[in-house]
Amino acid sequence: MMKPFIFLRIRLLVFVLLAFVPAIGLTLFTFADQRHHATEQAKDTALQLAHTATSSYERLILQTQSVLTGLAQLPALRQPIGTDCPKILRARMDEFLYYANIGVADIDGNLICSALPTNGRVNIADRPYFWRAVASGDFAIGEYQVGRVTGKGTINFGYPMLDARGRVGQVVYAALDLAWLNDFAANANLPPGSSVTVLDRKGTILARFPDSDAWVGKSEPEAPIVAATISGGEGTVEAAGLDGVARLYGFVPLQTGRGGSALFLSVGIPKAAALQEATRDLARNALAVTIFGTLALLAAWAGGNHFVFEPVNRLITAAERLGRGELSVRSGLPHDTGEFGRLAITFDSMAAALQSRQTQLEQAREAERQERERAERQLRHTQALRAVDQAITGSLDLRLTLAVVLDQVVGELHADAADVLLIDPHSQELFYGAGRGFRGNTIIAHRLRLGEGYAGRAVLDRRTVSIHDLGAAADFSRRHLVEEEGFVAAFMTPLVAKGQIVGVLEIFQRRPFQPTAEWLEFLETLAGQAAIAIDNAELFQRLQRANVDLTLAYDTTLEGWSRALDLRDKETEGHTQRVTDLTVRLARAMGLREEEMAHLRRGALLHDMGKMRIPDSILLKPGPLTDDEWAIMKKHPAYAFELLSPIAHLRPALEIPYDHHEKWDGTGYPRGLRGEQIPMAARIFAVADVWDALRSDRPYRPAWPQERALNYIREQAGKHFDPVVVQVFLGMVERPAQD
Ligand code: C2E
Ligand code: SIN
Ligand code: SIN
Ligand code: FE
Ligand code: FE
Repeated sequence: MMKPFIFLRIRLLVFVLLAFVPAIGLTLFTFADQRHHATEQAKDTALQLAHTATSSYERLILQTQSVLTGLAQLPALRQPIGTDCPKILRARMDEFLYYANIGVADIDGNLICSALPTNGRVNIADRPYFWRAVASGDFAIGEYQVGRVTGKGTINFGYPMLDARGRVGQVVYAALDLAWLNDFAANANLPPGSSVTVLDRKGTILARFPDSDAWVGKSEPEAPIVAATISGGEGTVEAAGLDGVARLYGFVPLQTGRGGSALFLSVGIPKAAALQEATRDLARNALAVTIFGTLALLAAWAGGNHFVFEPVNRLITAAERLGRGELSVRSGLPHDTGEFGRLAITFDSMAAALQSRQTQLEQAREAERQERERAERQLRHTQALRAVDQAITGSLDLRLTLAVVLDQVVGELHADAADVLLIDPHSQELFYGAGRGFRGNTIIAHRLRLGEGYAGRAVLDRRTVSIHDLGAAADFSRRHLVEEEGFVAAFMTPLVAKGQIVGVLEIFQRRPFQPTAEWLEFLETLAGQAAIAIDNAELFQRLQRANVDLTLAYDTTLEGWSRALDLRDKETEGHTQRVTDLTVRLARAMGLREEEMAHLRRGALLHDMGKMRIPDSILLKPGPLTDDEWAIMKKHPAYAFELLSPIAHLRPALEIPYDHHEKWDGTGYPRGLRGEQIPMAARIFAVADVWDALRSDRPYRPAWPQERALNYIREQAGKHFDPVVVQVFLGMVERPAQD
């Protein structure tokens, strides 16, 4: 869409119009010049016509003189009365045009013969043509008058007729009317609106063509044209006629007789007619100027579009788009040597420079962004490795640690799925250890022989194997991973710890994937961590296995000991085992933690360990003990403490051997602890021990029946025993089936 460029267009059009000023000026000048010439020419024409009229009038006078001279010789006219004089005169009048009448007067001026019939007596003695002819004895010209016979405005001419004695006896005259003027005017081929006027010296209109009737007799000596005409000379003038029409006049005096002019003639050509051609030329020129001017304006408009506005519009549009940040925009104008070409070169190179600057800026930003991303990635990698480290050091559960490793693999390496295959040393097979991102379960069940497939090759070659197109990989045995999981690419890295292969880390991608060196490096770092985790776990498992073996050996030994102790006590056969079982059951019923059971059990087994140092005389005495004997007997918990405390493995089990004779009310031994000062294990054990002791034969007394023993336990709650333990114990003994 092109902009309107209103102001620019107006300026351009004004310039085009200015170019037409000389043409208009020339037209007007031509018009003025033509007009001047036409005016002068018309004036000349008018003057010339006036001369022609005068000449023709003077010829008429000469003719009239010769006619009158001829008539004066006719004898018939000397004796006119009663003769055919009027007939002769009429014949003569008919012969010539323009004569209104021809007549003969006697010396007294009485009309004695006339071509036209007369009405009564007519005297012309007062007429100048008459008395001049009489006085001069020669041809005489009269003045404008209205004839007494004709009743018309005429100019009359008189000629004396001499009698036998040579004296003037009569005067013959001719009345010339001014109809000749009409004929002259009609023949002169005057432009329409022209006028021919005859004036007398008073300025009275004697004849006028055209419209003679309307004007003849009117007298306006003051009117400029009248004044000029009757001034006496000949000349031209531009003036308004008495009818108001502007005309160009030529005027001359008419010689009407000797002794000065009496008549004046003017020919007026209408100015409009004179200027008709000039005006027509002006109109034609003006039309031409208008047409060419309009064409030029149209050309300027169209040419302006093509040569100016189109390029300007393109430049403006391009500049606006550039301003909006479209740096790829170019003017699209040809790079020629014209102004627009140079402007386009400048604009385009400016846009190109801007674009190149922008590109550089973007590249710099991109580099900066990549650098920042790389730094962030490094940080995340470090954090990932820390997370793995923490998992390795914080947990001995291999599955947990591998889960953490795989989380980092999937997260940081953007893997779609990953797993760790472990080595089964017995079958020499790789089996699934842990995985992430798998849709199905087939990966779990599948086992691979070492050396089989790509994972096997990674183990044998001790290097990462990359498969970029699993679908086309002939050696990939686990086709189901392609078909079910949609994997496209895979990376298998051997897990090597202390030089030993402990497994394979596998990465799967569902889309084509091109790893970077950084990616591969981090993969191998994580693989190293996974290998350490696996190695640690195996180490721990071995250790744990050794520990379990050792513990089993210990406990077996302890049981042997306790059986030996029981045997020494003679009648307490099976007591320790029963008490131990009961103690564990009670402890569980009391809600003690499972980890404490091993110590509880060991403590129970060894509770009377101290009796080892009690002499048989006291231990096996069939009756009650003396005070001294009691004093020794009461040392057996302390002896147990002394015997067992150096053995670190048994230290957590010491509570029962040391405190099993403490009482709830504080009256027990060896330390006289009370209530909750007594370790829970010892409080639980005490109930089990006394119960079993009472129900057993002792060297010093036979076994008590159940009811009595139960009553005793019940009665000792809050004294000897922790009431809560007693309650739990009683509940257990009274409802043994539920236990
Ligand atoms: P033990 O025989 O294993 O008895 C353990 C505990 O069961 C006794 O701790 C006591 O609290 C309870 N007990 C056992 N028999 C009876 C009984 O007949 N009546 C009552 N009320 N409680 C009984 P105690 O009393 O501290 O005795 C510790 C150990 O001293 C006994 O172990 C036993 O080896 C020895 N002993 C205790 N009284 C006698 C006695 O009169 N003659 C001899 N030869 N030894 C005794
Ligand atoms: C326009 O036409 O839009 C302005 C051009 C000018 O003023 O030069
Ligand atoms: C005439 O012919 O009309 C008479 C002459 C005159 O009036 O002078
Ligand atoms: Fe004891
Ligand atoms: Fe006991």
